[in-house]
Amino acid sequence: MTALTSQDLIGVIGAGAMGSGIVQVALNAGHHVVLFDAAPAAVERGIASIDATYRKLLDKGKIDSATHIDRMARLQAGSTLADLAGAALVIEAIVENIDIKAKVLAEVEALVGIDTIIATNTSSLSVTALAARLQRPGQVAGLHFFNPAPVLPLVEIVKGKATSQCVADTLFDTALAWKKIPVRCASTPGFIVNRVARPFYGEALRLLGDRAADVATIDAILRDCGGFKMGAFELMDLIGHDVNYAVTKSVYDAMYQDPRYKPSLLQKELVDAGWLGKKSGNGFYAYGADAAKPAVTLAPAAPRPANIVVEGTLGVTAPLLELARAEGLAVRHYPAAGPALWHIDGVTLALSDGRSAMQADLAAVFDLAVDYTTAGSIAVAISDLAPAGTQATVCGFFQALGKQVIVIDDVPGLVVMRTVAMLANEAADVVQQGIANAADCDLAMVNGVNYPRGPLAWADAIGPAFVHSVLAHLAAGYGEDRYRSAPLLARRALTGQSFHAVAP
Ligand code: NAI
Repeated sequence: MTALTSQDLIGVIGAGAMGSGIVQVALNAGHHVVLFDAAPAAVERGIASIDATYRKLLDKGKIDSATHIDRMARLQAGSTLADLAGAALVIEAIVENIDIKAKVLAEVEALVGIDTIIATNTSSLSVTALAARLQRPGQVAGLHFFNPAPVLPLVEIVKGKATSQCVADTLFDTALAWKKIPVRCASTPGFIVNRVARPFYGEALRLLGDRAADVATIDAILRDCGGFKMGAFELMDLIGHDVNYAVTKSVYDAMYQDPRYKPSLLQKELVDAGWLGKKSGNGFYAYGADAAKPAVTLAPAAPRPANIVVEGTLGVTAPLLELARAEGLAVRHYPAAGPALWHIDGVTLALSDGRSAMQADLAAVFDLAVDYTTAGSIAVAISDLAPAGTQATVCGFFQALGKQVIVIDDVPGLVVMRTVAMLANEAADVVQQGIANAADCDLAMVNGVNYPRGPLAWADAIGPAFVHSVLAHLAAGYGEDRYRSAPLLARRALTGQSFHAVAP
């Protein structure tokens, strides 16, 4: 165990949202902490906000008054950087600018001991490049907390090219001792979370751009069918379009304009308009006191089906068969190779495999759900070539299983399937490139951005071969490199091995 102990002094630079949160994490773990900010008023504000947070916890009975007093007594306001001289660990959470960070950290480096670890909370800058501007790059690493730091458990431990293994291990063990969930990754654009999460926004924006459905409908599908806590548009509104667009653009540029990360003109338009989301009162949604939440159009009630025949392999859709039987529907299942085809009163549909219903020569396709048993809604698409009455038959089937049905345009991959396939694809690339391992990728996405499942565990459940075919169909359908399969996904598709069972 190489974790710092509570005897070790922690220095935090930057008393904004992140710095104040990180101070609390260290105080809660028993450390003495010095907080410094270039603006003395910011230190005062930061300390007042930390005190206010503890008072709230006191009021709720989560801490007692002795704990509150003890924690605040261990917090010191730094008046100059020299107050950090005795720190075993200095964490910088100042403005996201490499020149300013390098200048401040070079000053810190000249003041502290040679064993002091210098950590940056940067969310987008290269830890390698920042460390290279200091005298002891081996002592520099990324310690990337998520906002709010006292609440969100994930911490990315980012190893720059020169970061010593001992420094990375100490930060990992310290984060564990601080009751956080640390994951290890190399210093690459976006680290794990901000890279793997790009398709969550990118696919929703793409679907909106192609007018597959409106904002509220896509969000509802991601929440009620996909199991995500928030839809992509409400989440972007919350993060702020200035911030979210800048992260996408920085990853896109850092990846030499790889089309996978291409920013959306729809989001740029919002940034240009100053519609930055919740904080500015307008984004994809309006937030004024009189703003009405847009309604999602659900399919009208349709008759129960009389005759259901399923042929093929059910895979992740197996719970639908159980639900149908539990609802007393007449179902016959003929197991066979290949993904299941569902014949509902003569109408044939299937789980989306990345083709539209029309491309797949089916009457309809339905979307992936995180769990078909608990999902409140199912998204479906009807082929333009399907006979009249198809929609009612399809909707009647899912309604008979207790689901609300959302009908969207017949776009390839629907909403949840293409989003999950792209998330898993990105995570597979991160693993293939040795940036992080599969377990850490999934831990990061579940604990950093609250995904209902880790993308790779989700791909394992769907089957890597199926996920690969979804992407192959999207790539062929759109004719775009954006949907190319990661080499590791393509390999797992051939071997049938799961991401979690086998290291690359
Ligand atoms: P913030 O704007 O709330 O606070 C930054 C603080 O740094 C301000 O109080 C400012 O006075 C101070 N500062 C600026 N230049 C300074 C200097 N030269 N020396 C000392 N203090 C200086 O910013 P926030 O949101 O806390 O972000 C800080 C860092 O954390 C950035 O690198 C950001 O990318 C990163 N980050 C932010 C997250 C977020 O959700 N806000 C999440 C994870 C990382």
